[in-house]
Formats: sequence, structure tokens, C-alpha cells
Amino acid sequence: MRLCAVDDLDLGQMMRIELEGMDPLVLCNSNGRFVLLDDECTHAIASLSQGRLEGEILYCPLHGGSFDVNTGKAKSLPCKMALNTYTVEVRDGGVWMVD
Ligand code: FES
Repeated sequence: MRLCAVDDLDLGQMMRIELEGMDPLVLCNSNGRFVLLDDECTHAIASLSQGRLEGEILYCPLHGGSFDVNTGKAKSLPCKMALNTYTVEVRDGGVWMVD
């Protein structure tokens, strides 16, 4: 499934992705690499795509907890549980979800 064009997401930017039948996802351009994770924070109800991406660390906008975008693992409190991560590939000028 094609998520967006490569040019749609500059370095360090994020985009909320809504696909039918799935919870919202967040697509990140982390250091030039595209990564896809759950958009909802595992601590409470907050959209991580409204937060801040610094390199490989995604900060929640609500309480400032953070996640490693490569693994989905929580990096700082109050977040403890990991986010699900999803496989993407870059092809034909687009970013595609593989799973
Ligand atoms: Fe994300 Fe609390 S809702 S850190």
C-alpha cells in the first residue's frame, strides 16, 4: 500500500497515516530513513504525529515521554510500553507499507 510520495516528507518531518481498518499510524523521516509506527502514545491518548521528532527519538506532545523510532521501544518516562512498528520500503518515488 502506497503511503505517500518520498518528496511529501522532508527530513525530520512526520505525517499521520489513516488506513481503513487500522489504528492511525505515524510515518517519520528519521535521518533520511522512513519508519512507520503506531500514532497513539502507549501512555495515554495522544497523537505522536503532533509531537516532536529529533533524529531517531519521537517525543509525545502530551507529557513528553519518548520512543526510539527504529525499535518502537519507550526511551523515557512516563512511557513504558513499546509502539508497534511496521515495515516500509521506498519504491518508484513513493513510500510503501509492506505488511
Ligand atoms: Fe504520551 Fe503521556 S500521553 S507521554
